[in-house]
Formats: sequence, C-alpha cells, structure tokens
Amino acid sequence: MILIIDFGSQFNQLIARRVREHKVYCRIEPPTIKIGQIRALAPEGIILSGGPSGVYEKNSPKVTKKIFDLGIPVLGICYGMHFMVKALGGKVSAAQKREYGFAELLVKSSSTIFKGISRKTTCWMSHGDSVEKLPSSFKAIGSTENTENAAIADVTRKFYGFQFHPEVVHTREGSAMIANFLFKVCKCKPTWSMKSFARDAVEEIRQKTEGKRVILGLSGGVDSSVTALLIHRAIGDRLTCIFVDNGLLRKDEAKKLKEVFRSKLHLNIRFVRAASRFLSALSGVTDPEKKRKIIGRVFMEVFEREARKIEGAEFLAQGTLYPDVIESQSAFGGPTSVIKSHHNVGGLPAKMKLSLIEPLRFLFKDEVRALGKTLGLDDDMVYRQPFPGPGLAIRIIGKVTRERLELLREVDAILIEEIKKAGYYRRLWQSFAVLLPLKSVGIMGDKRTYENIAAIRAVTSVDAMTADWARLPHKLMGRISNRIINEVAGVNRVVYDISSKPPSTIEWE
Ligand code: XMP
Repeated sequence: MILIIDFGSQFNQLIARRVREHKVYCRIEPPTIKIGQIRALAPEGIILSGGPSGVYEKNSPKVTKKIFDLGIPVLGICYGMHFMVKALGGKVSAAQKREYGFAELLVKSSSTIFKGISRKTTCWMSHGDSVEKLPSSFKAIGSTENTENAAIADVTRKFYGFQFHPEVVHTREGSAMIANFLFKVCKCKPTWSMKSFARDAVEEIRQKTEGKRVILGLSGGVDSSVTALLIHRAIGDRLTCIFVDNGLLRKDEAKKLKEVFRSKLHLNIRFVRAASRFLSALSGVTDPEKKRKIIGRVFMEVFEREARKIEGAEFLAQGTLYPDVIESQSAFGGPTSVIKSHHNVGGLPAKMKLSLIEPLRFLFKDEVRALGKTLGLDDDMVYRQPFPGPGLAIRIIGKVTRERLELLREVDAILIEEIKKAGYYRRLWQSFAVLLPLKSVGIMGDKRTYENIAAIRAVTSVDAMTADWARLPHKLMGRISNRIINEVAGVNRVVYDISSKPPSTIEWE
C-alpha cells in the first residue's frame, strides 16, 4: 500500500484516485500520524501531498521527520516537496514569479520516475514558494521557465519531489509519472481490486465482531445496500437490517427492496411500517426544514425502538464513504468519521452503547458500485440515483398528505420509466418530479379542468455540489409530459425546471 500524508491540498482525493486507478491500495492519513502507526501500515511508498501553507509558517502542518529514516521511497508534491527539502537541510523561499496553471516541464535526466516521459511535457503548477537550495544529496531532474527545481530527486534514497501536480489531468503525463513511482520506484504490484478488498473486509468484519450481532439501517441506496451485502457475507444472519417504510418512498420501493434483499439475497431484514407515524407528525407542516427535523426525529425513534428488540446487538454498521472521512480529518487534527446525517441515527451508538463499523470508509463511490457488482448486486441497485432521506416529503411543496404522495408517486414512476427507456437514467445525476401547491386551468376532452402542476427536474452533476439542468431531448420531454397528463388523474400541466445549482439547489425544498 501507499501512504498519502494529507497536508490539506484540495487535490488529495485525486492523488488517492490516481494511485487506485493503477490498482494499488492507498490511504490518506493526517500528518499527526505517529511513526509507529506508519510502521504498522508498512507502506511501500509515501506521498506527501500539497497544501495551502508555507513551510516556514508557524502552524504549518508537519509529519514526523522519522519517515525519512524508514528506507521507504517518498514523493513530495508541492508543499510536500517543500516539507521534505526543509527537513533534509535545503531551503524554500517565496518564488520571484508565482506560477499558476500550465507550464512546460523540461525533463533533464532520465531518472526512474521519468521513464517513458517526453523530454518536454505539459505540467500544471499552483505555487507561490519554490525550492531555492537543494539538500546536498538531491539533484534537479526537471525545470520550467520560472522554476529551476520543478522536479528533484535523491536517487539513492529514492526521494522525489515535484513542484507541479501530477495528480491533476492537466499534467499530461502525470498518471504515467505516478505509475513510475508506484511500480518502478516503490515496486508495488497492481493487485488491488474489489475482489481482494471484499476478501480482506470480510475477514476484518469477522474478527472485529467476534460472534456478536450487528444492526444496519437499510435505505435501499447504494451505500447501505453494499454495506449490508458485505457484512452479510462475513457474518450471515448475525446481521439484522432494519428498513423503515416512512410512507415517503417512491412507488413500489419497499416491495422491490423486499424482493431483492430478502427473497433473492437472503438477508435478515425487519421491515417497519411506520407511514402513519410519519404522516401524522408531518400533518399541516409546510416549512422544509421543519419537515426534515420531524422526519429525522421520528426516524430515530422508530429505528431505536426496533433496534432495542434485537438482543445482543453490539455493533451499528454504516455506509460511510471515504470522501466524508477525508473531509472530516483535517490536516491539523486526527480523523473522526462523519455520521451520515440522512440516516438520522447519529446519536444511537452512544445511547445504545453500540460500536460503529464502517466497512466502506476507505472507498470512493465508483469503487462502492464496483464492489456491489462483485458481491452480486443487480445493476438496477448499483446504479441508482441518489434519493434524499426525507424522500417525497421535500418534493411535495407545502402540506404532505397521503393523496398527494400517491399522486407524486404515479408521476415519478412514469418519469423514471421513460428516462430509463430512453437510456438517460445513468447519465443523469438525478431525475425526479415535484408536486407544486398550485392549480392551473386546462382542457381535457371538452371539459375545463382545474388541477395540479408537476415539475420535472433532471440534472447532471459529479458530486451534487454543483449541478446543471439536463438538456433532455424534446421528444423525450414530450412523451413524459403526455403520459403524465393522460395517465395521472389530477395533473393537467407539466413544467421543466431549467435552473442550475448554484444559485438554485437540486431539490426544491
Ligand atoms: P440540494 O437540494 O442541496 O441537494 O442541491 C444536494 C443533494 O443532496 C440530496 N439531499 C438530501 N439528502 N437528506 C438527504 O439524505 C436531505 O435532507 C437532503 N436534501 C437534499 C439531494 O437529493 C441531492 O442529491
């Protein structure tokens, strides 16, 4: 494995992605990691990331200098290189010319890390400081017009430093440089796969749970589904999943889930029918944040009540993913994993004295999907679009009632069916319908109607932080609108949402 020390760069997740794309396992750890912990991880190489600080700043992040005595190859990127240079006796200074964006790298020597790389290659820079004086054992192996020491090496000790960012796609041959570091310098083997991950995770879960019971809140989303399958593979019926039907789900959701997880995959699941409780708590409520709070509170109560019935449960499993973990471990502090708030059971572990297990906490979303496939999950489940915890309650603007839920479910089902038929489902981040608290006039047959308006929202996005409205083909939009108005009694108008995020959000509430 490769250990990445997180000095706070916005590109850290990209470094991890690049390493894993070469089928080498890696972990990102904060600089506060102790030398003993590093030895225990036994990395084949260490990457020191970039970061926003300057190495001479008082509170700049530092990792123990003992990493340079381990006999392990090190690659320092930007701040990581500055840290290494300073630690080994060189000098860093404010660059005379700051360098941001593209630069041409002249590769000076055919060192291992540049095997197969063009003599002139495009790299991407983002720095204010530069290496002024190299530690005595180092040589410059690459330069740009403004930066003499753009790439440096101590070949004997296998220490390398890049002023540019090999992890971003703008560095044209960056991926090949990282591959050289992994395979030619560190002698890693490309053996990391979801199969090997599953094998190790199953073993770890067995050891950790020591024959005890585990509870998991199953939502039907990819993360909780894959977590459930993985733990089930490890400990079988000692895993109890709790699925809360809050009455705010899409059409046939609970039924489909039962089919997949109980009948086909043989998981031990408790279905809790709690629609009435949720609906009466939501009665008359129109404020979106109030809706969320109520749904969160009722979920917690229902879940806890059910969990208490499971005798001998000592663990709570959660589908926390790596981006959440990385975000919550700052460059200056220790890692603490974020509890996924939409499962709304954040307070439960302490209250019920449960220990957490989060077997996906080192995986990215696409790796979770690949793992799901390895574990036998259908494509239908693996490629599901995200669905918010508060469900349809935040897609019915205004008061939530059984009748309006029923109406929205029908509209939504037609929309999803058509989007899937047209081959658009996987290309969209989300596609859904919203029921507006307005009526409009229409004409059907020879009669005047005065009915509901449904809005369609379809967006593309990579991480939901920003999103754009999807340019769906007009023919598809026409078919969706036609079918909804013809087939759903109570809707006589369909509109399409053409707002991007920001300034709008993906959901309407
Ligand atoms: P917005 O509407 O903020 O949504 O652009 C970003 C992403 O988050 C989802 N979302 C939620 N998920 N509980 C959740 O579990 C919530 O209360 C919630 N609100 C929004 C939304 O579907 C989108 O993917």
